[in-house]
Amino acid sequence: MSQQLTQIVPLSQPVDIGDEVASFSSEVEAEIDWHLAKYPVMRSAILPLMFIVQRERGYLDPPGVAYLANRLSLRITDIWEVATFYSMIYTQPVGKYHIQVCKTLSCKIMGAGKVTEHCSKKLGIKVGETTADGRFTLSEVECLGSCGTAPMFQINFDYHENLTPQKIDQILDKLP
Ligand code: FES
Repeated sequence: MSQQLTQIVPLSQPVDIGDEVASFSSEVEAEIDWHLAKYPVMRSAILPLMFIVQRERGYLDPPGVAYLANRLSLRITDIWEVATFYSMIYTQPVGKYHIQVCKTLSCKIMGAGKVTEHCSKKLGIKVGETTADGRFTLSEVECLGSCGTAPMFQINFDYHENLTPQKIDQILDKLP
């Protein structure tokens, strides 16, 4: 472990945690403690903790962000910097199934636009919207690392590749 990493100390600026701070059950707190204990530098646990907060609250809402800032002795902006970088961390409520269509070069060349358009028409929502029944949210994201099997999308944590309109229909119609 480098000296530089071990010497990181809490920032001197005051942490603005807002009015409401999320709270969790003792089981969830124990899970969070377990992750924190794995890392010599507390802020290294930011992603595992974000996934827990997201799992418990549906997305990283302001009280959840305030909790993370408190727990990790970081600023709110430190939490947002990470949360807004990763497309698997949600900063807005999402439906039961979050469809994230890759819009980057390989997928774009192979028809990502048509994938988005097909999903949009089928579900009756635009990019960034959620269906009225709360089942589907449609998003476009940057490269998901599956460029060789473009076009593709991710539904929650599952990849679906070499998409065609027929395949998209099969995937969406099969979801419980
Ligand atoms: S460009 Fe779509 S997965 Fe990489």
